[in-house]
Amino acid sequence: MARYSRTEGTIALITLSNPPVNALGAAVRRTITDIMHRALTDGEVKAVVLCGENGTFCAGADIREFGKPPSGPALVPLIHDMEASEKPVVAAIEGVALGGGLEIALGCHYRIAHAKARLGFPEVMLGLIPGAGGSQRLPRLIGIPAALELITTGRLVSAQEALKLGIVDQVVDGNTIETAVKFALNVIGRPLLSRRLSERTPAFSVDAAAVLEEGMARVKQRARGAFAPVVCVQALRAAATLPYSRGMETEEQLINTLIDSSQARALQYCFFAQRNARKWSLPSGARWNNSKPRAVHRVGVVGLGTMGRGITVSLVKAGISVVAVEMEEKQMDLGMRAVLGMLERDAQRRGDTRPPTHLLTFTLSLQQLGNVDLVIEAVFEDMALKKCLFTELCNVCKPSTLLCTNTSGLDVDALAVVTHRRSLVVGMHFFAPANVMKLLEVVCGPHSSAEAVATAMTLGKRLGKVGVVVGNCPGFVGNRMMKLYLDQAYFLLEEGAAPEQVDQVLEEFGFTMGIFKVSDLSGLDVGWRVRKASGLIGPDVNPKTPSRWRQGCRYSPLPDLLCEQGHLGQKSGRGWYLYETPGGKEPKPDPAMHRFLQEYRSRYGLTPRHVHAHEVIERCTYAMANEGFRILEEGIAARAEDIDVIYVFGYGWPRHRGGPMFHAAQVGLATVLQRLEHYHQLHPDVPHLQPSPLLQRLVEAGSPPVHHWREHVQHLHSYL
Ligand code: CAA
Ligand code: NAI
Repeated sequence: MARYSRTEGTIALITLSNPPVNALGAAVRRTITDIMHRALTDGEVKAVVLCGENGTFCAGADIREFGKPPSGPALVPLIHDMEASEKPVVAAIEGVALGGGLEIALGCHYRIAHAKARLGFPEVMLGLIPGAGGSQRLPRLIGIPAALELITTGRLVSAQEALKLGIVDQVVDGNTIETAVKFALNVIGRPLLSRRLSERTPAFSVDAAAVLEEGMARVKQRARGAFAPVVCVQALRAAATLPYSRGMETEEQLINTLIDSSQARALQYCFFAQRNARKWSLPSGARWNNSKPRAVHRVGVVGLGTMGRGITVSLVKAGISVVAVEMEEKQMDLGMRAVLGMLERDAQRRGDTRPPTHLLTFTLSLQQLGNVDLVIEAVFEDMALKKCLFTELCNVCKPSTLLCTNTSGLDVDALAVVTHRRSLVVGMHFFAPANVMKLLEVVCGPHSSAEAVATAMTLGKRLGKVGVVVGNCPGFVGNRMMKLYLDQAYFLLEEGAAPEQVDQVLEEFGFTMGIFKVSDLSGLDVGWRVRKASGLIGPDVNPKTPSRWRQGCRYSPLPDLLCEQGHLGQKSGRGWYLYETPGGKEPKPDPAMHRFLQEYRSRYGLTPRHVHAHEVIERCTYAMANEGFRILEEGIAARAEDIDVIYVFGYGWPRHRGGPMFHAAQVGLATVLQRLEHYHQLHPDVPHLQPSPLLQRLVEAGSPPVHHWREHVQHLHSYL
C-alpha cells in the first residue's frame, strides 16, 4: 500500500504502492498515515520525499469506495500534519497527481514534477468537489481565476503548465525521485511558513469578486443542470472570503451535499462504464485481452462527404496515412479543401507550424487502395451502391485488408456476404462531426473475426474514440433507440407541442441540444432518404394507406412534409426552426412552423392540448430505455452500461444522468414500467410503448442493480 525507506541517511522516502494508479483506498490511507507519522517523529529523519510506484504518483480517491460506508482514516488530518511539520516534505510527481493525490501534493512544502506528468482536480467529473482541502489550498497557491477554471472544468494540466501556474516548483526530464531527494537535502532547515498554503491568504480583490460572479454565471450556463460545477464555485468563494479553517468547514459541508447525490452516482457509474466498454467479448470466447489486433499503417477512406472528411482528419491527426477516394472531381475538390482546412485550423490551435498533410493522398481511383491495411467506406447510405463497392474493394485491396463500413444502420452482414473475406468485415460507425465526436460503434456480425473487432477497437482508441462493440441490426444500438426518441418527439408535435418547447424541456433535462435542433443540424433529408429506402414513403406505399399509418402502427409524416417543401434544416435555412440564411447556425422559433402545425392538426382532426414537461421527458426517455431492454434481450448490446456509454458519448445525453438505462434505474424500474403501461394504453397504436418483457421481468425480480440485468435475459441471442 505504501513503503517506507531511508535514503541519504536523513531522508525518509515514502512510496505509494497500489497498482495500477495508486488510488487512495482505505488501506493506503491507513498505511501512509502511519508511516508519515513515523517519518515526522523519527529524530534521525530531517526531510521526507513522497512518491508513487511504477511511474505514477497518485490518481486520487479509490472511486470504487464511493457510495460504501466510510472506513479508514480521512485524508484531511494526514495532509494537515504533513503541512504543519517542521521537516520539509517534497512531492516527487510522476505520471499523474489527481484529486486526492494532488491534495496530498499541495500539503507538501515543495513539488517536483516529471516533464510528462499531468496534474488536476477531476472531481467535478465525478459529481464532487476537491474535498480534502484542494478547493482551499489551490486558490491560495495560483489565485482565484486559474483555480476556478481548473476546479470547475476538471481539466488536467501538463507539468509545464503547472510550472507556469506555480503549482509545481520544478520540472525534470530525468529521474524525478533522485532530483526530489537532492532537493530535499538542500532545503533542510529552511523556514517553512511561506510554504504552508493554509497559512496564505488568497489575494481577494474586487476583481476576484467579479471573476467569481462571472464564473458562477458561466458555470450555470454550461452545467446543463449538473450541481457539482456550481458547488465548486461556492467552495472557491469560501476560499476567497473566509479564513482557511472556516473555508475548510465550508468545503466539508459542500462536499457532504454532493457525496451521496444521484448525480455523483451517475457520473461515477459513467467513469466505470466507459472503461468497461473496452472489455468486449464474443460468443466464440474471443475477448479484448486474448485477441490480437492487426497493425494498421495505411487506411483507405472511400467517400469524402460529411463523414469521410471527419474520419480522414481523425486518422491523419493520429499519424496514420490516408488514401481518400472520391467518385467525382467536384466532390473531391470540396472534400480536399474541407480536410485541409480542418487540419490547418487544428495545427494553428495547437501552435504547430505545419499540418501533417504529407500523410494524405487524394484520388479518384479505387485502384490506389491496393496497399492499404484497412478501408473505411463512407459513401451514400445506399445498400446497392455499398454492395457494389465492397465487391470492387475485394478485387482491388490486398487479401488481408479489413473492410469497414460507416453505415449508420444498414445490414453489415449483407455487405460481408458479397465479399470473399466475410471475417474481415465490420462496421465502424462514427458520429458527426467525426473528428470531434468521441463515440465509435464497432458493429460485429456473425462472420466478423475477433481479429477484425480487435483491430477496429484498437484503431478507435488510437483516434481517441470511445469504442463500443455492438451487434448487427437496423440502426445498431444508438440509431435504433434514436428512431423511437424521434417518433415520440414528432407525436408530441402532433398532439400540441411546439419544436422549441420540446427542445427546451430536453435541454433543461441536460441534453446538449434538443432533438429538433439536432435534426436541423444533421439535415432532415438524412432520415428522409432512410425512410424512402425502407419503403415508408414513396411509390411502394399503397395509395390507400392513411398518411399517419405505416406497417401496422402510428406514423408521423411531419418530417417528410418538411422535406417535400425543401425545409431540410440549417443547410436550407429552414427546418423545425428558422435560420437567417441557408447554413445559418442560430435557430429561431418559426411562426410559419406554428401555422403549419395548426393546419396539419386540423387536417387530421387532432385537437391540440397542453403537453407537460414531464410527459416530454417520460415519453422520450422511457421509450428509449424500453428499446434498450429489447436490445439487451436480443444481445445487440452486451451490457446496459454499453448502451449508456453510446448515449453519453454519441448523442449528447447528460453525463450527470448516467445514460438512458441508468436513468431508468434511478427513476425506478417499477415507475418506468407503470408509466409505459399508461402511455401504451393512451397510444395503443405505438407498439414500442408497450413495456418490454425484460423490463417486466426485472420489475418482478425486485429491480436489481444495472450490472445484474444481464442475468435476467432469458434466451441470450448471443450476438455478443
Ligand atoms: N479509483 C479506482 N480505480 C481507478 C481510479 C481511481 N481513482 N483511477 C483509475 N482507476 C482504474 C480504472 O478503472 C482502470 O481499471 P480497469 O483496468 O479495471 O478498467 C485502471 O485504473 C486504469 O485506468 P484507465 O484505464 O483510466 O487508465 P489510463 O492510463 O487511461 O488513465 C488515469 C489513468 C488518468 C489515472 C484515469 O484512470 C483517471 O482519470 N482516473 C480518475 C482520476 C480521478 O478522477 N481522481 C479523482 C478521484 S476523487 C478524489 O480524489 C477526491 C478525494 O480524494 C477527496
Ligand atoms: P455524404 O452525402 O455527405 O457523402 C457521401 C460521399 O460519398 C459523397 O461525397 C459522394 O460523392 C461519395 N461517393 C458516393 N459514391 C462513391 C463511390 N462509389 N466512390 C467514392 N465516393 C463515392 O454522406 P455522409 O453524410 O458523409 O454519409 C456517408 C455514410 O456515413 C452513410 O452511410 C451515412 O449513413 C453514414 N453516416 C452519416 C452520418 C451523418 O450524420 N451524416 C453519421 C454516421 C454515419
